[in-house]
Amino acid sequence: MKQQALQIRFHEYNHLDELSEQQVELVNKATEAAGRAYAPYSKYYVGAAVLLENGEIITGNNQENAAFPSGLCAERVAIFYAGSQYPGIPATSIAIVAIQDGIIQEEPVTPCGGCRQVLCEKETQGGTPLEMILYGTGKIQVIQRACDLLPLPFNLKTGKISNLG
Ligand code: THU
Repeated sequence: MKQQALQIRFHEYNHLDELSEQQVELVNKATEAAGRAYAPYSKYYVGAAVLLENGEIITGNNQENAAFPSGLCAERVAIFYAGSQYPGIPATSIAIVAIQDGIIQEEPVTPCGGCRQVLCEKETQGGTPLEMILYGTGKIQVIQRACDLLPLPFNLKTGKISNLG
């Protein structure tokens, strides 16, 4: 038997002015996108803004449905739209923001398990780190690589475990 360990490192900031101009732009676009979310059931409005390697910024927001499983998270709406419009162009950064009762959440919003799988695959496919900016008014967490938030990811192609060690 061999004992293995996983370690996740990320940066935490207190204020938006500690981020780069590009990161702030993504947070702002994610906030705007959250305001356009269709979330009549949860009333939890999430926005995501994805920066592609070609400079394009794609936004998405959660889209809910009366048949609950038919809805989709903001991150996946944005990532799948990016894939459909710009196939083969890697994504290099994504900002995520959540609004509840008209207020941007204090705690950073962290992607659900399904979105982590999709973000990790987008990063692996692109062959370049996909940074995640998880914005909250109380703190901002920046995770350098999407796969860092998905230990031991499922990978149909190689079965490779990318973040162990
Ligand atoms: N949601 C997202 O869009 N992204 C996340 O990272 C967390 C959850 C959505 C799904 C659902 O529409 C609502 O938030 C409440 O779970």
